[in-house]
Amino acid sequence: MREDVLLLLLFPLILCSNALKTCKSFWVSNRPSQDCSSLALQEPPPLLPNVLSLSLANNSIFRVTNFPPEYKRLQSVRLDQCQLEKLDFDALSVFEQLRELDISRNFLTKLIIPRNLVSLRVLNMAFNSFTYVPDMSHLESLRLVDLSHNRLISVRPRMLPFNLEVVRLAANRFTHLSPWPFLHKLQELDVTFNDLECDCSLWHFVTWAEKLALFDSTMLPCRRPSELRKSPIDGKTVCGPSVVSSTPESAVVSLDDNHMMCCTALATPSPQLFWQLNGKNISNGLSQKHLSDSGKVEFCLEIRKIQLKDMGKYKCVASLAGLNSSKEFHVERDKIPIVLNSAEGIMIYCQFTICTFIGVCCVISCCVLRTGGRGKTRPKREYMHAKVLEIPQDSCEYCCDDMDEDGDVDGRECDDWGDAETAAVRQYLQWRQMHQDQHKYSMIPQIRHESLCRLSNESNNSECHRAPLARFDEPPSVSFDMTHL
Ligand SMILES: *[C@@H]1O[C@H](CO)[C@@H](O)[C@H](O)[C@H]1NC(C)=O
Ligand SMILES: *[C@@H]1O[C@H](CO)[C@@H](O)[C@H](O)[C@H]1NC(C)=O
Ligand SMILES: *[C@@H]1O[C@H](CO)[C@@H](O)[C@H](O)[C@H]1NC(C)=O
Repeated sequence: MREDVLLLLLFPLILCSNALKTCKSFWVSNRPSQDCSSLALQEPPPLLPNVLSLSLANNSIFRVTNFPPEYKRLQSVRLDQCQLEKLDFDALSVFEQLRELDISRNFLTKLIIPRNLVSLRVLNMAFNSFTYVPDMSHLESLRLVDLSHNRLISVRPRMLPFNLEVVRLAANRFTHLSPWPFLHKLQELDVTFNDLECDCSLWHFVTWAEKLALFDSTMLPCRRPSELRKSPIDGKTVCGPSVVSSTPESAVVSLDDNHMMCCTALATPSPQLFWQLNGKNISNGLSQKHLSDSGKVEFCLEIRKIQLKDMGKYKCVASLAGLNSSKEFHVERDKIPIVLNSAEGIMIYCQFTICTFIGVCCVISCCVLRTGGRGKTRPKREYMHAKVLEIPQDSCEYCCDDMDEDGDVDGRECDDWGDAETAAVRQYLQWRQMHQDQHKYSMIPQIRHESLCRLSNESNNSECHRAPLARFDEPPSVSFDMTHL
């Protein structure tokens, strides 16, 4: 003991390495220790004699390919916070008595642990970037492993040595965990801060962990899954089944296509799985795949060269202990297009065209008939509505003066006012035209103001009204003064 203290005091004087001068030496549990933390070291420094415990924490040792040979006697090494990216197999091979290794808070993604670390009891790999658990199965003395705050997705149970007492897996990326019954010395298990899915597969793990009183189940993100129940057959606890689709639930297909449908079933224990078409079991084209760690099974049906008989309602069914869960899938034939190069298509096309043609003809003839018919039926007269035409008397073939008492005009029915009026208007317009273009004509019939006769039956008597103005209401709206004529 005294000898050791003396040595410790003398060391800085005896050895002249810069690194050694700055490393601190001290005693921990009667063992000489060397503290080289926070020294901005870039590689492992030489070791003081007899040192069993070394701390290199908080340095900048990016990669270790080899440790100095005297490291072989070390029992405890701290390499945490060293920005370590790689720790080589050969480097670790130097240790013969290593009991504790702390490589936490680095950037390690993988690690191969050599066989010589048989004495290793504590391995701290927390706060690194491990995506899978390094193989530790040969570390028979290992009691504690800390892998929290890494990127682990799953644990392969055979990577774990079976004397483990403490396993820390907090804050990783586990969604599913399975029981590890071979870890019969397990006393502490931390799986908090993982996105565990609260389904049947997790329940298996929880039941195992609860039985060992490893943790309080309230620390899990969920309670017991709701699918949990007692089997009516043997009274055992079962979970599920539940089925979800993992491909689209409806499909439109063409004849001779191939089509694949998949569902994912979850149940503990494994359920009975089958596919049905319109209520009948299918035996061809089935395939099953266990999805790793999740306890789920993907169950697929492939239909090759689809025929008409393959169209319909498909069902993926999982059955466990008297309960069914199923998902429906629909397979339909695509719409038949009008294809003009098929005889059937041409027929349909021709029929359609002929029908359209006949329809259009009918509409046109109706219109023509209606227009023609108008000539035969007398239009409703609108004398009462100020459709007043003033016609010069000498251009007027049928003047009111000529009308006799029983309404006959020159042998015509007096009722034929409309026609008389039309003739009078035509003659008048003709006269007016001539009057306007008088340079074209050698002689223009004279028209006197007094002889203007209003052709109107608005007063319903045979009086001839003198009309100073002529007015044509429609169309086009023309108004002219005849007084100056
Ligand atoms: C790490 O080391 C640096 C100097 O290299 C020091 O400033 C810093 O405080 C140390 N950090 C810790 C957490 O010890
Ligand atoms: C379909 O197959 C399942 C599983 O083999 C069976 O339990 C079920 O009775 C069958 N159903 C029909 C309708 O044949
Ligand atoms: C489950 O489905 C199978 C097959 O269709 C059927 O024979 C059985 O009666 C169903 N069981 C229940 C509980 O619905």
